[in-house]
Amino acid sequence: MTDRTDTATINAHSGAPLWLLAELTYRCPLQCAYCSNPLDFASVRDELTTEEWLDLLAQAREMGAVQLGFSGGEPLVRQDLEQLVAEARRLGFYTNLITSAQGLDEARIAALREAGLDHIQISLQASDPDVAAAVAGSAKAHARKLAMARAVKAAGYPMVLNVVLHRHNIDQLDAIIALCDELGADAVELANCQLYGWAHLNRAGLLPSREQLEAAEATTGRWRIRLAERGRAMDLLFVVPDYYNDRPKACMGGWGSIFMTVAPDGAVLPCHSARLLPMTFPSVRDRSLREIWYDSEAFNRYRGDAWMQEPCRSCDERHRDVGGCRCQASLLTGDPDATDPVCSLSPNHHLIEAARREADGADGTVGALTPRNVHESRIFCRS
Ligand SMILES: C[S@@+](CC[C@H](N)C(=O)[O-])C[C@H]1O[C@@H](n2cnc3c(N)ncnc32)[C@H](O)[C@@H]1O
Ligand code: SF4
Ligand code: SF4
Repeated sequence: MTDRTDTATINAHSGAPLWLLAELTYRCPLQCAYCSNPLDFASVRDELTTEEWLDLLAQAREMGAVQLGFSGGEPLVRQDLEQLVAEARRLGFYTNLITSAQGLDEARIAALREAGLDHIQISLQASDPDVAAAVAGSAKAHARKLAMARAVKAAGYPMVLNVVLHRHNIDQLDAIIALCDELGADAVELANCQLYGWAHLNRAGLLPSREQLEAAEATTGRWRIRLAERGRAMDLLFVVPDYYNDRPKACMGGWGSIFMTVAPDGAVLPCHSARLLPMTFPSVRDRSLREIWYDSEAFNRYRGDAWMQEPCRSCDERHRDVGGCRCQASLLTGDPDATDPVCSLSPNHHLIEAARREADGADGTVGALTPRNVHESRIFCRS
């Protein structure tokens, strides 16, 4: 899943939300050290019920939302997934399941198809089973992912794979793309790891070097040519990491512009990472989605450009990138209103350069990464 959008111009006004990301649960059988979920996910226990999800799907559709992603944690953990998919279909959403494939089998694919699911995206950790096992904290997950990728295709869905790239798998990109090709993938999202949540905690051990990144881009370019020569339709989307850019991306197409995420406990967020910001987000348990989207302080906080500090405030590019990502600004500078330090015009850009230097000197083993699991999350909650 890509959570950034480059748009030529960001509207300051708030139109309807077009995208709804439904994070059904933070429960997950895997422990990916790069996971963008919040560090304190273990403190969220009171998940929305089936009825609450059904109600908010209707509210979102009534507001004009058309695209619906089911994610998490692992959405297949929810036994009511098929029921939610069926209702989403009935309401007229285009539905996408974003999954690690753990909990998937042929019968469940058939049930989801029967319920009207439009699209399935499966994430892979690596091509090498040992690297995949180490990164996901599971020796069995990789084989299931490969089997389910084939089963998804056999069931008539396009096969869309997502691979989060970081220092431990980026050098194997050639083999990763070859595996996707052999699996018969129709599209592959090569998503350079975004450094939020667990990925931020593990940043020094995940951030690739510039040389690794350039080699990976070159590999992707060679594969595009090779695939075209063979007449093989497999889209390769290479999502460039922020830390090697000198301008930020327009996060989510602008705060509260087109995206809305509902977290497992009903908190409504402008993106899936926003929980880390030092602010309170309203819940669908207390207010309607419409009220939250149009009238809440949280959703209006970073709309338009009146909130911007210098250098963004007087910058000609402010309507293109809206000053970058609030989560990144907050994580790196402690000030959510600051210019995203990715921008070379930011007075804090040295923090990005320092992070790159820190990564160059870090322990390079997968074992040095902190796994995303309940135990580690509870330690974080207590501290
Ligand atoms: C948080 S996961 C939840 C769904 C499911 N558990 C999975 O991993 O596919 C949603 C999507 O974000 C991707 N993802 C997770 N952490 C990421 C990160 N730090 N940067 C970029 N993509 C990430 C996953 O590969 C997956 O495609
Ligand atoms: S990225 Fe990994 S740990 Fe995070 S929710 Fe997906 S499968 Fe689970
Ligand atoms: S100063 Fe702000 S608005 Fe200008 S390019 Fe940098 S982040 Fe964008």
